[in-house]
Amino acid sequence: MLTAASPTLTSRLAHLAASSRGTTESYLASARVVLQHVLSHPDLIDPSAFPRVPSGYSRNLLYGRDGVSVWALIWSPGARTPIHDHHCTCCFGVLAGTLRENWFRPLGDDRAVRTAHHVRTPGFVACMAPTGPNIHQMVNDGEAEAISLHIYGYDHEAHASSVDREYSLATL
Ligand SMILES: [Fe+2]
Repeated sequence: MLTAASPTLTSRLAHLAASSRGTTESYLASARVVLQHVLSHPDLIDPSAFPRVPSGYSRNLLYGRDGVSVWALIWSPGARTPIHDHHCTCCFGVLAGTLRENWFRPLGDDRAVRTAHHVRTPGFVACMAPTGPNIHQMVNDGEAEAISLHIYGYDHEAHASSVDREYSLATL
């Protein structure tokens, strides 16, 4: 942990984690600023040592303290998450490559229908609070590797992941 993040980035993340005790709105605004800073200074992270998972993705912890965990995700071509929502705040930015983000609305507790899809390219940043409808899925359906940075409002030692619930795809 932390070896791939520069000391400068680690310091910024520690400051951000401390700000998570404030309002959700101010914390998300701060997280967005941190992500935008990293995306414009990609040398703050060295992803070369992160594992690559054929047709899948690896989650690599960069920082975890004060209820905030920060991960670099390496997406091989063909990687996709389950359709899911979150139990915590979720912010992410695309560092390299292209990801497709599918959005859904729920049909009951365990099925969801796709309502939109967006192509996320380097520089894109999104922040979500768990209070809003935020059922989504990330897919690397391109031919190149993608790298994204995720800032979650959860303690990585208390939760296995940011996912609250997974859904199966429903078609109408
Ligand atoms: Fe997610």
